[in-house]
Amino acid sequence: MSLRGTQHYGNCLDSVPLRVRSAVEGARRLDFPFCVRPEIGRLLAVLAGGLPAGARAGETGTGTGAGLAWMVDAARDDVTFVSIEQDGDRVAVARTVFADRANVEILHGDSATIVEQGPFDLLVLDGGPGSGKGDDVPVDPTSCLVPGGLITVDDFTPMSQWPPTHGGEIDTARLHWLTHPALDATEIRVAPDLAVVVGRRRHRTGR
Ligand SMILES: C[S@@+](CC[C@H](N)C(=O)[O-])C[C@H]1O[C@@H](n2cnc3c(N)ncnc32)[C@H](O)[C@@H]1O
Repeated sequence: MSLRGTQHYGNCLDSVPLRVRSAVEGARRLDFPFCVRPEIGRLLAVLAGGLPAGARAGETGTGTGAGLAWMVDAARDDVTFVSIEQDGDRVAVARTVFADRANVEILHGDSATIVEQGPFDLLVLDGGPGSGKGDDVPVDPTSCLVPGGLITVDDFTPMSQWPPTHGGEIDTARLHWLTHPALDATEIRVAPDLAVVVGRRRHRTGR
């Protein structure tokens, strides 16, 4: 059985950045089980740590701020972050986690509005509409990313064949991102049971 994200910090909470720890402890207080898994958090830290001076990063589905904390801890101090969460209790915890960081804004609202906050150098899709999973409409990378900007969509089971499948059917969401004409995209396996799709907006259109 796959553990939910918050449970994955059971053995490693002492070894993660303090701000991540604070977000996970807040999640535990709220009985919120869906914190980003540490394996994905480490990938987000790698990506955010590479952002240039003055870059802008966005996230949908803040939760209590664990993924955001991985990124903020790794990024330059002049990178600005905005994250959107619909649940008021989670927003309150996340705002406490980042209370000392003027470059981090937590919005209480619907992820569908994330496009109004861009364009982004890094956009992490982790809650609500925009990822293309289920019935929702995927965000358009050409309007929400700067050229060269990165997008991540997480919580996939690792791909073992092409085209990728999920539950015996073609995984249209993953296929959408991996074949998007405006992106160079790949899947990164961060654990035996967990993969993330990472795409970079191409500097030129067409192949
Ligand atoms: C997988 S959790 C996010 C985990 C978080 N990013 C982290 O790093 O720990 C998904 C979150 O998306 C939020 N969410 C779901 N639908 C949403 C929507 N339409 N607008 C904003 N947030 C939404 C949920 O309330 C939940 O907190």
